[in-house]
Amino acid sequence: MWKGRFEQDTDSLVRDFTNSLDNDCKFYLEDILGSQAHVTMLAKQGIISVPEAEEIKNGLDKIKQEIEQGEFQWNPDLEDIHMNIEQRLTELVGPVGQKLHTGRSRNDQVAVDFRLHVDNRLKDWRNLLLKFVQTLRNRAEDNKHTILPGYTHMQPAQPVSLAQHLLAYAQMFKRDLERLDDSLKRIRISPLGAAALGGTTYPLDPEYTASLIGFENVFENSMDAVADRDFVLEALFCSGMIMTHLSRLCEELITWANPNFGFVGLPDSLATGSSIMPQKKNPDVLELIRGRTGGIYGELTGLFTLLKGTPLAYNRDLQEDKTGFYKADNTVSGSLQIMINMIAELDFYPENMYRAIRRGYLNATELADYLANKGIPFREAHNITGKIVKHAEQREMGLEDLDLDEFQQFCEDITADVYNILDYRRILERRITPGSTSVDSVNRQIDSLDGWISGMLNVKKGSGGSV
Ligand code: ARG
Repeated sequence: MWKGRFEQDTDSLVRDFTNSLDNDCKFYLEDILGSQAHVTMLAKQGIISVPEAEEIKNGLDKIKQEIEQGEFQWNPDLEDIHMNIEQRLTELVGPVGQKLHTGRSRNDQVAVDFRLHVDNRLKDWRNLLLKFVQTLRNRAEDNKHTILPGYTHMQPAQPVSLAQHLLAYAQMFKRDLERLDDSLKRIRISPLGAAALGGTTYPLDPEYTASLIGFENVFENSMDAVADRDFVLEALFCSGMIMTHLSRLCEELITWANPNFGFVGLPDSLATGSSIMPQKKNPDVLELIRGRTGGIYGELTGLFTLLKGTPLAYNRDLQEDKTGFYKADNTVSGSLQIMINMIAELDFYPENMYRAIRRGYLNATELADYLANKGIPFREAHNITGKIVKHAEQREMGLEDLDLDEFQQFCEDITADVYNILDYRRILERRITPGSTSVDSVNRQIDSLDGWISGMLNVKKGSGGSV
C-alpha cells in the first residue's frame, strides 16, 4: 500500500521483522469501531457521500464477522491490522474502500485503537477490583472478634482483629480502583483527526468522531496525539501497583499457611501438591502471583526506557508498547480472579491465632500502659514490664498466668485489676482511636467502605462507541 516510490521488493526478513499482526489483531473490534466512526464523520462533513460511508461501514461489519468466524485471511505481507482490513474492504466493496483512509494516518489510527483497547481492559480490572474489595469486606465482617497477632518487623507486636487486617488490604485495592478511574480520564482522549502528525487539509470534526467512539475528550495538539503513550505507561503503573498489593497479601498468606503458623488453610481447589512429599499442600498460586509481579515492573521500566528516546512525533518504537500491556493485562486479570476465590474460600483457624498471641506476650504493651496510668513514667513502666516478661518466659507462662505476688515483686503498684488489662479479649475494646482495631472502629470502617462500594457500583463509566 505504500510501495509507490519503491523499486525493489521488501526483503522478507524486514517484512517479518516489522510485522505487528500478532499483537494488533487483538484489537480488531476497536480498529473497526474507529474506522466506522471516522467514515461517519467524513460523510457528515461532506468529505465523502453518505451512501459511500454506508457501503464502507457495511463492508467493515462483514470483515468483523469474517474475523469472528475465523474466515478472515490475514496476510503477513500487509504489515499490520490496519492494512489487512483496508485491503479486504476494497476487495469486498470495490474502489470506494480506498476512501476509508481519507484524512487519517495509521499513526492516529493505532493510537485510537490502543486507547480503546486499554480503556476496555481497565474497566474489566476495575470490576474485578470492586469484587475483590467486596470479598475482603465480607470476610472482615465475619471476623470482627477474631484476634491474631499483629506484627512489626515480622515479630509479634500487638493483637489485632482479623477484620482489621483484611480491611487494610481492602483500602489498598480501593485506592487501586480509584487510580484506574483517574487514569481513565487521560486514556479516554481521542487522537483521531491528528492524522500523521500535523493535522490535515480536510475539514474533519474530531470532536464528533470522539463522541462516536464514546470518548469524552479530544486531543489538543496533533503531534502529542500521535506520540503520546503516557496512557500505556499509566496503565502499566496501575498494574504494577495492583500486583504489589496482591504480592504482599500472597506473601502473608504463604506465611500464614505454613503449619508453624497455621492461621489459614488454603482451599484444596486452589492449592497444589508435591510429587514426592505426600503430606504437602503448596501455595504455588500465591507464589506465582508474587513471582509474576517482578515481570510487570520490568514491563513498566521497559516502556519508560523506550519512550525516553523517542523524539516527536510517531516513531516505530511505539509499536512495542503492546506486548508489555498484554502481559500486564493477563497477569492482573488472572491474579485478581484467583484471589477473589482464594479470599472467599480461605479457612481461618482462630485457635491457632490465639495460641500464637499467648506465646508472643502480645499483652505486654497493655501492662506498660497500665503502669504508666498508675503514674510511673512510661520509660520506666516499659523497663519493669520487660523484666516481668523475662520472668514469665523463664517460667514458660503467659503474663496473665502469673500470681499477683509475682507481679508485685517487680512493682508494688500492680493490683488485682491487672488481670482485666491482660485479658486478650478485652484488648481490642480498649483501642479508642479512629481507624483502630476495635470492633467499633471496624464497624465504622465497614460502613464507610459500604458507602464507597455502592457509589462505585452506581458509577456509569463511558460505555464505548456506537456507530
Ligand atoms: N503497527 C504500527 C504500531 O503499532 C502502526 C502504525 C504504523 N505507522 C507507520 N507510519 N508505520 O505502532
